[in-house]
Amino acid sequence: MGRATTLKALLSTAWLVCVLADQLADDSSTKEGANDRVECVCANRHECTDTCFGYVCFFTVVHGYASRGCFELQQYEQCRSHSIPDFHINCCSEHLCNFNLTEPKEPEVNPEPGAADSAIMLVAVPLLILLIVAMAVCALVVWLRSRKPHYRLTHMDDHDATMMKVPAGADPTYGDIFDEFCTSGSGTGLPYLVQRTMARQISLVECVGKGRYGEVWRGTWMGESVAVKIFSSRDEQSWFRETEIYNTVQLRHDNILGFIASDMTSKNSSTQLWLITHFHELGSLYDFLQYSSLDPEGCLRMCLSVASGLVHLHTEILSTQGKPAIAHRDLKSRNILVKRNGQCCIADLGLGVIHSQSNDYLDVGTNPRVGTKRYMAPEVLDESIRVDVFESYKQTDIWALGLVLWEISRRTVVNGIVEDYRPPFFDMVPSDPSFEDMRKVVCVDQHRPSLHNRLYSHPILSSIAKVMKECWFQSPPARLTALRVRKTLSKLDQDTDQGTDKLKQDV
Ligand code: ADE
Repeated sequence: MGRATTLKALLSTAWLVCVLADQLADDSSTKEGANDRVECVCANRHECTDTCFGYVCFFTVVHGYASRGCFELQQYEQCRSHSIPDFHINCCSEHLCNFNLTEPKEPEVNPEPGAADSAIMLVAVPLLILLIVAMAVCALVVWLRSRKPHYRLTHMDDHDATMMKVPAGADPTYGDIFDEFCTSGSGTGLPYLVQRTMARQISLVECVGKGRYGEVWRGTWMGESVAVKIFSSRDEQSWFRETEIYNTVQLRHDNILGFIASDMTSKNSSTQLWLITHFHELGSLYDFLQYSSLDPEGCLRMCLSVASGLVHLHTEILSTQGKPAIAHRDLKSRNILVKRNGQCCIADLGLGVIHSQSNDYLDVGTNPRVGTKRYMAPEVLDESIRVDVFESYKQTDIWALGLVLWEISRRTVVNGIVEDYRPPFFDMVPSDPSFEDMRKVVCVDQHRPSLHNRLYSHPILSSIAKVMKECWFQSPPARLTALRVRKTLSKLDQDTDQGTDKLKQDV
């Protein structure tokens, strides 16, 4: 077990002990029986409109939106989030007690007369335990931090939260909220309760995609469009993995899909898993290429942006706001989104593998899903891949990157010629190919996608064609790295700009 895993396990255990000790203290002074369930008014957009039964009732107001409902024991900790601006919560434990609550305020602690002494004892002992555990955890964290860079960035403390700068007079956008939590304090994103509250204020507007993974909807939050991916129950592992990666790794980059929130709700005894991200109205690269063609400069811009996103994923950054290296494992045009500025961003981190060389840490996850067969590299298809070596996963991403560059190039007009959109190996395997179909073509016959002659008559396209071929070497270590692909394409981009500038000067 790597040190990061040990740290994660220790912190989780310590956190659990703290929460339980804390609850014990509160229970003794404010609640009669820990197992009592209380009926509460339930009024929030997604869960219910009547009543619910829980451990306590809550009433929240976030940016003017009120909701009422029930918290289970494990959610009780959230009753303590009092000092986040524009976020108020109040909890109570009497029958339908959240009905009359309108103005969230600090919870009242009212020990019965005469019971004060025993209540003090019951509070003091668990608090002492809590203090000792907290000091031990602090000492451990300080010691571990002094030994190595860290990626797992803890939630904001109250001080950070009160420093949040929301534009005066205006409703904050999710960008404002996210920036505040990201640029100060830990940097990994919104606290869990804020994510959950935002998620429950989203209205689903239209379904923009459907597949084995579930559905993607355009939703609105405070008037802004957001994308909501609703995972099918059989793909819950992808939700867990993607949520884990986005919440523990600082992944904000122009060419990685921007994360807003994750949420899990239960509805009629089934679990709904949501991932909320930035919305890109042009949809996936796959969709875009069906109806759009590009000029060579547009093609280069797209290819360079995908390579830049992949470099960011693949690179470990060593600093307090650093990140581990991540391999994607399911790169394809359907998992890439097109932005209005002609650049792309990479989505779907549900199969991601995390690696930290400095911490000697490799986390391949537990998702039973595998990548898309059509995009599988030869070593995946013939099962010779070295699954314990992180480099192997990056090399499979590079194979897939070459195929994505090929899909973009086909839709690029050179000398007035362009090809229709086709998926990789369209002329060699049937639609929805089997593992065996792909293995025969890629490993046994060692076929590669064909490149149209027109590409060689244009300096940009012929360079991109050369890059593709170097992503498709049978031998994984012989392939280019993402960094090399990005450098080659960046150089091409600069040369193109200089050429255009010179042409303008000459005219
Ligand atoms: N399809 C899948 N994810 C999307 C997103 N974030 N925006 C728009 N369409 C999408």
